[in-house]
Amino acid sequence: MKVLLRTLACLFLLVGLAALATVVWARHTGGFSARATPSYVETALARYTRRLAIPASAKSLQNPIADSPSVQHEAMAHYADHCASCHANNGSGDTMYGKGLYPKPPDLRLAATQNLSDGELFFIIQNGVRLTGMPAFGSSNDDGADSWKLVRFLRHLPQITPTEVERMNGMNPKSPDELQEEKQEQEFLNGAPAAQ
Ligand code: HEC
Repeated sequence: MKVLLRTLACLFLLVGLAALATVVWARHTGGFSARATPSYVETALARYTRRLAIPASAKSLQNPIADSPSVQHEAMAHYADHCASCHANNGSGDTMYGKGLYPKPPDLRLAATQNLSDGELFFIIQNGVRLTGMPAFGSSNDDGADSWKLVRFLRHLPQITPTEVERMNGMNPKSPDELQEEKQEQEFLNGAPAAQ
């Protein structure tokens, strides 16, 4: 009985100390603000755990979609519409949402991402990453073709040209205000009197 009580007391003490340490750590690292940038250790640990959590069978999957200009075009439009709000058209992650997330979306052009296998990239797109802003884009009844095409486009990102980025700007989702502005510009160019 005594041993049990002592063990319980120790356990409570440990939990209390861990909670206190978390509060002190959180205060010193900017509270719970998502504006902070995760430390190197935090990022390395999170990436390591994520890597362990992806099944080996998924990592070794080969891309069943052959690369072609039409696949690149389709995936580019899909990426500009669904991914660029966080990852940016050029993959840098330098966007309003990207900068405000914790953890931030990594620069998809760099080795850390490009060294992931096609299977890993596909798994991340289909399933998302828990406790981060990365959503799951797959569903139980899709064949994953769109995500495999996106993997082809992610491989192209390190070589993306300014002309391609410019083209993608026209493919990004537009707010009603932006659409209205574009319509007025077009009308003005077509010779209609400018709106007041
Ligand atoms: C709402 C914001 C958001 C959107 C939209 C989004 N992502 Fe992400 N993405 C993230 C964040 C945040 C991470 C970092 C996750 C982590 O740290 O494990 C991430 C990580 C990734 C990674 C892993 C890269 C690496 O090196 O860890 C890939 C690949 C990826 N996203 C692809 C995509 C694709 C393709 C789309 C569109 C179909 C997309 N994402 C849409 C926020 C987003």
